[in-house]
Amino acid sequence: MKVLILGSGGREHALAWKISRSAALTGLWVLPGSEGIAEYAESLQGDPESPGTVVESARRIGADLVVVGPEAPLAAGVVDALEANGIAAFGPRRDAARIESSKVYAKELMVEAGIPTAPFAVFSDAESALAHVAERTLPMVVKADGLAAGKGVTVARAREQAEDAVREAMIDGRFGEAGAQILVEDCLVGEELSLMAISDGEVVVPLQPARDYKALRDGDEGPNTGGMGCVSPVPGCGEDLVSRVCRDVLQPAVSAMARRGTPFRGLLYAGLMLTAEGPRVLEFNCRFGDPETQVVLPRMRSDLLPILAASAGMRDDLEDLGVKLEWSRDAAVCVVMASGGYPLSYETGFPIEGLDAVSPGGFVFHAGTARDDEGWITSGGRVLGVTGLGPSIEEARDTAYDAVGRIAFPGAHFRSDVAAF
Ligand code: AMP
Ligand code: GLY
Repeated sequence: MKVLILGSGGREHALAWKISRSAALTGLWVLPGSEGIAEYAESLQGDPESPGTVVESARRIGADLVVVGPEAPLAAGVVDALEANGIAAFGPRRDAARIESSKVYAKELMVEAGIPTAPFAVFSDAESALAHVAERTLPMVVKADGLAAGKGVTVARAREQAEDAVREAMIDGRFGEAGAQILVEDCLVGEELSLMAISDGEVVVPLQPARDYKALRDGDEGPNTGGMGCVSPVPGCGEDLVSRVCRDVLQPAVSAMARRGTPFRGLLYAGLMLTAEGPRVLEFNCRFGDPETQVVLPRMRSDLLPILAASAGMRDDLEDLGVKLEWSRDAAVCVVMASGGYPLSYETGFPIEGLDAVSPGGFVFHAGTARDDEGWITSGGRVLGVTGLGPSIEEARDTAYDAVGRIAFPGAHFRSDVAAF
């Protein structure tokens, strides 16, 4: 099978690594890719968010399957365009991708399907939103409806903070159209969990759960980021919890979307809060998590490609593949090394040293790197996702931090408490 991956980050590096090991693979390309991903896949130039470019590239290489990494190409209708041209794609069509691209859509779907989530109210004008915020009990959470690069959510402990969030989204237009509608919801308390599952529009096959470390600094201090680290498995989150989330969250969501005539094919990611009353959905994403993928795929023993192909409708045995899915007993821990200043402004172009000195059992997934004449340099906010594998979480953690200790670039920042339970 010839496969084209869309995207260029650490998640896509992990996908390319995993797919490159597939017995069914005959050729692997990536659009636009990176010099890190080039280890496994040939890079193509072009904009992965342009449906025309993606169809043309897939045709040129004779791709049998296009695997979409990030959400933006999905929201731009890349899968619709590929399917219209007879090319199979892993990922939802634009109407189904709304489960991530509109939080209001996701909430309405959850109400319809009886999926547990925080009580909420929706607003499309600032005046009524502000009147509501003036009365709602603190703390409360204000969310912009659309895609806002992880910056559209404010957990407000003070009323002023909630008012500011409403004004920023609805009056100042900080998120553009994405902030034209907002949600105000109750603040949930508990530990977070990410559970990803693959669906063909009917069946749901769960992957192993993971925990993302979203805050910038140790102890969950500082601003939210795209993710500063990840661990899988997660203590206390075993098979029972996975089955419960499949039964109460993932399967009802997929069934409700099928009933609506907008079936969800691809990867459905539930961001959950494990509250005293049980798991509650914080958000849905319509693609692999980043950095969740960098810990979940290294633990997967089975061949991923047939599963992606079944989700995309190229075969009809997703349920059987799901039953046979095999996982390593090893734990995986990923530590993200970020540029100084991230998630605000940061400089790039600094030389990265020590990338070759990483011990066996460690993987370095490139998120924001490039090469110059001298070697690797930084080119993004999140630079590397360093994953360690080991027979226990502690050993995986030691392997990851040992590798992080060998890698250096000016301004490098990472959390030191990833997977420290
Ligand atoms: P979201 O993009 O909706 O997942 O929100 C980003 C982050 O905000 C989540 O990972 C949580 O840490 C936090 N968050 C979102 N919604 C809530 C909520 N209802 N209660 C508490 N924290 C929340
Ligand atoms: N790690 C969170 C996300 O992928 O959205």
